[in-house]
Amino acid sequence: MEQTLYFILLLIALCSVSECVQRQYHFINVRKNWTEAQRYCRENYTDLATADNMNAMNELNKCVNDKDVQNVWIGLQRKWQWSSAEPALYLNWAPGQPDGKDECAMMRDGQWHDGSCRDDSLTFVCNSSKTNTGLVFVNQKMNWTNAQSHCKQNHIDLVSVRNQNENQQLQKFISDSHISGDVWIGLFRDSWQWSDQSNYSFSYWKSGEPNNVGGNENCTVIEPSTQGQWIDISCNQQFPFVCHEDKLILINENLTWSEALRYCRQNHTDLVSVHSEEIQRRVMNVVHRASTEAVWLGLRHSCTVGLWFWVSGQTVCYQNWAIDDSENCDSAVRSGAVQSGGDQRWISRPETDRLNFICSRYEE
Ligand SMILES: *[C@@H]1O[C@H](CO)[C@@H](O)[C@H](O)[C@H]1NC(C)=O
Ligand SMILES: *[C@@H]1O[C@H](CO)[C@@H](O)[C@H](O)[C@H]1NC(C)=O
Ligand SMILES: *[C@@H]1O[C@H](CO)[C@@H](O)[C@H](O)[C@H]1NC(C)=O
Ligand SMILES: *[C@@H]1O[C@H](CO)[C@@H](O)[C@H](O)[C@H]1NC(C)=O
Ligand SMILES: *[C@@H]1O[C@H](CO)[C@@H](O)[C@H](O)[C@H]1NC(C)=O
Ligand SMILES: *[C@@H]1O[C@H](CO)[C@@H](O)[C@H](O)[C@H]1NC(C)=O
Repeated sequence: MEQTLYFILLLIALCSVSECVQRQYHFINVRKNWTEAQRYCRENYTDLATADNMNAMNELNKCVNDKDVQNVWIGLQRKWQWSSAEPALYLNWAPGQPDGKDECAMMRDGQWHDGSCRDDSLTFVCNSSKTNTGLVFVNQKMNWTNAQSHCKQNHIDLVSVRNQNENQQLQKFISDSHISGDVWIGLFRDSWQWSDQSNYSFSYWKSGEPNNVGGNENCTVIEPSTQGQWIDISCNQQFPFVCHEDKLILINENLTWSEALRYCRQNHTDLVSVHSEEIQRRVMNVVHRASTEAVWLGLRHSCTVGLWFWVSGQTVCYQNWAIDDSENCDSAVRSGAVQSGGDQRWISRPETDRLNFICSRYEE
């Protein structure tokens, strides 16, 4: 009885894991423009710095260890997107466009130009389910914002142009309809995106920012003197910058569990130990790129003690099993993996299976 109590107390003590930092930030005190800084970070670390919460923001700001630096690049830039919320993957700008001043797009002779969402008044094309072409021309001049509302109220949306084929169809539709002059399409630049494609859900703008002075402030710096608050600024300026290095790296090689452990310990730090929900989330971010249906974790079963444990020495407190079949201790030594598809929970596999695996790159 006393022994059981002691064991429970021990588990509680072992299980109170403090929140850990999942990214390491590196301050690079060399002045580069935003694009060069991005290239540098992608070559030497993971990407230009990303921050998705206040803790990360504090860490990021702390790593800027030169107090005389006024502005520091992070990986946030304005993005073009379709009114339908689709990301703009295909773009067909006329040479020299967008020239940075404006936030909405129009079509002229099949090519795209940027225009002022507010001040330019143009006819436009909506996407509709009621016509053969899927398109409707609205012969009324409006600013982009009103054109968008008009399409949403009366049809589907301002038209999206997602590939060359759709661009040719729209161009033909415009010339067949004998429309002259520029027409709005559904492309606009409104939101922000992180260089590493992580979600833009957290923001830390300085008051009055972003203000897009001169219309070409499509990149972001932090201001270390104001706890790292964000300011939009022209991408062509030169500043020092912060890169980040993700803690986890997926290795696309098919190795047994022991080979994977050796690989991680030699080339990185260790096979990943998923001792919190936070780390499970990071695992889910990388595991979908795997080529095997399961991916090794640093999770090992001991039949002697009848327990799972992490190779880092931690007790398995946080759990995310699909099935834990460790009860039937057969001859094969079992190790833990995470499913690369579905709801990405943990399963136990014979350690001789050949799977992709996840290494951690640095200690906490
Ligand atoms: C931002 O705008 C400038 C000026 O128009 C342009 O040269 C640059 O490519 C844009 N940068 C990004 C990251 O969108
Ligand atoms: C678009 O035009 C309408 C009516 O003229 C005006 O009320 C509205 O403020 C304009 N939109 C923008 C974003 O300026
Ligand atoms: C028009 O809208 C429909 C329904 O949302 C969509 O399936 C279609 O791809 C859209 N077409 C264009 C050209 O935007
Ligand atoms: C990003 O946000 C979208 C929509 O809110 C969500 O469906 C998606 O799971 C998020 N992605 C990540 C990696 O958090
Ligand atoms: C690993 O195994 C998967 C599934 O069997 C296979 O598709 C993939 O090509 C293999 N990868 C390597 C690097 O051998
Ligand atoms: C370390 O990585 C290299 C490939 O980058 C690989 O050839 C080598 O086998 C790895 N080390 C171990 C111990 O697996």
